[in-house]
Amino acid sequence: MGLLSVKSAEILERLNQHRIYQDPINRVNWLRLNLDDYWLPEEALSLYGITEFMALSPEQRKALSHFEYLHFLEAQIWLEGLFMERLSLSASYARKNIALLKYHLNELREQAGHSLVFAEIIQRSGLPRVATRFHDLGWMNWFARHSSVDSVTFWLTAMLSQEIPDRINRVIRQNKNTICPAIFDVATFHTVDEVRHISFSRRMVDAGVKELSSGRAFVIRFILQRMLNQFADAYFYPEPGLYDFAGLVPGRSWASLARKNPHRIQFIRQHLAGVLHNLQQVGVPLTWRPR
Ligand SMILES: [Fe+2]
Repeated sequence: MGLLSVKSAEILERLNQHRIYQDPINRVNWLRLNLDDYWLPEEALSLYGITEFMALSPEQRKALSHFEYLHFLEAQIWLEGLFMERLSLSASYARKNIALLKYHLNELREQAGHSLVFAEIIQRSGLPRVATRFHDLGWMNWFARHSSVDSVTFWLTAMLSQEIPDRINRVIRQNKNTICPAIFDVATFHTVDEVRHISFSRRMVDAGVKELSSGRAFVIRFILQRMLNQFADAYFYPEPGLYDFAGLVPGRSWASLARKNPHRIQFIRQHLAGVLHNLQQVGVPLTWRPR
């Protein structure tokens, strides 16, 4: 029996309720978007903690925070795009289950709204668009596109790709006094919406892992471990060109400083601890080690 078919209409209806839809684009005060404030807290930056970073002026640190935030937005646009592809396809699959169809359409509308806000920020920033490695991540792109939308692998991928960025939004929200108010607005609405999305993914995973044989669980763990390695590397270590854009030249030297930065490794470990704990709880123990 597929995962989607085991979800009762009652649970789905509950998830569909209490949704007073507000277009995310109207949940941001765009007049407050500015380049004078930080877009990410300093401790979330790839170079934070090393001597060379501490020697930078506040203006240079802020410029780096704008580009590293835009880098995270590119990750979100890529992830939400993959997710929306599958949700729109499953709308046809879910035709016989009206509660599920409504849930998927609600989530599709919300994710489209989020990505629209991200595109708006990129455009309004007036900054060049940063290059990323997300589209080259073979494991994640393949499984997000080809695993069945009612398989546990799909929902574990969703869980991983929702929980890691969600924690960045929480870090932003802990720094209200130093973060650009419009970016704070974005982190707020995204955290609120993701609570529902993550909860749905976890329900799907919980329902699916119970039916797994130990052989299948082993294969899934292998796949997820590779996805985590690839994604964490592309997510937490920006491309050299980003540092060039931020005025830190040559970007290649700064990118290699970030790779060797022990504070970054510590930040990633702390960041992933909760995500890995949740995966362990559902029987998928993974580890992260710096490359
Ligand atoms: Fe989203």
